[in-house]
Amino acid sequence: MSLLLDEIALATVRLADAGVESPRTDAELIAARLHGVSRAELHRVPDTSFDPRFWDDIARREAREPLQHITGAAYFRYLELAVGPGVFVPRQETEVMTGWAIDQLAAMDVAEPVVADLGTGSGAIALSIAQEVPRALVHAVEADPLARQWTERNIASVAAASPHTAGRVTLHAGDFAAALPELDGHVDLVVSNPPYIPVGSWVPPEVGEYDPATALWGGEDGLDAVRVVAETARRLLRPGGLLAIEHGAQQGAAVYWVLAEENGWQQTRNHTDLAGRDRFVTTVRP
Ligand SMILES: C[S@@+](CC[C@H](N)C(=O)[O-])C[C@H]1O[C@@H](n2cnc3c(N)ncnc32)[C@H](O)[C@@H]1O
Repeated sequence: MSLLLDEIALATVRLADAGVESPRTDAELIAARLHGVSRAELHRVPDTSFDPRFWDDIARREAREPLQHITGAAYFRYLELAVGPGVFVPRQETEVMTGWAIDQLAAMDVAEPVVADLGTGSGAIALSIAQEVPRALVHAVEADPLARQWTERNIASVAAASPHTAGRVTLHAGDFAAALPELDGHVDLVVSNPPYIPVGSWVPPEVGEYDPATALWGGEDGLDAVRVVAETARRLLRPGGLLAIEHGAQQGAAVYWVLAEENGWQQTRNHTDLAGRDRFVTTVRP
């Protein structure tokens, strides 16, 4: 055993005692980031290179600060995104809905499909679409000025790494209720992961104390923002345009009815995430 592996074992016990869900993984990822190696290379770090700041980072995680705030990075599909205070940490659940949008756009018989991502946060959805569907033109809308600082930073760094995305994602400041009037009736796909947690629900400390409140709470039934997104999408989409909205695991039936035929939608479908839980609804503008 090396010194670093011994320290990781001790840190794993401390994180487990603090209620961290994946203590070993988190201790390894913190150590790997700090020592500039991959997880598979941790055993090769010489004892003389052990960085004692490891224990500062472990103390932060023990206090339930999100792993991604400590390492400064969140992985989403093929992207590494910068995240920290003021922006929602993108989740794995959202990758499936983003993949659905990417598949639909790739199959769409439109030269330059126009996309709107309502509530873009770090830019995870918008930037993945731009990276994976290079002909798409993506409009990312965000109301929170702190979150937009992270979006801007991620747009710039993804453009540096994948030059074909440069200029393909436009960030718009403002409320998605009134967003993008110049595109009314011309958008091919609207995608959104809006705030959808019912007010008063329990959330873990990593979420309640670190994700911005504007990214989480969706009113009494959690669907306030979902209803607004549906209204905006109806205005923005061309006939036959597509909408995908993420929601909580218990909200599939309720969101289905927000997007029911009598509200002007067709072919509404529920979809599950990788864990098999209801996670997003897709529909078509008649
Ligand atoms: C759950 S987060 C999703 C962020 C990102 N799309 C993702 O999937 O990781 C919701 C985002 O919507 C933004 N938001 C909430 N209400 C909004 C509104 N009325 N207009 C624009 N953005 C809004 C929040 O600031 C937050 O960044």
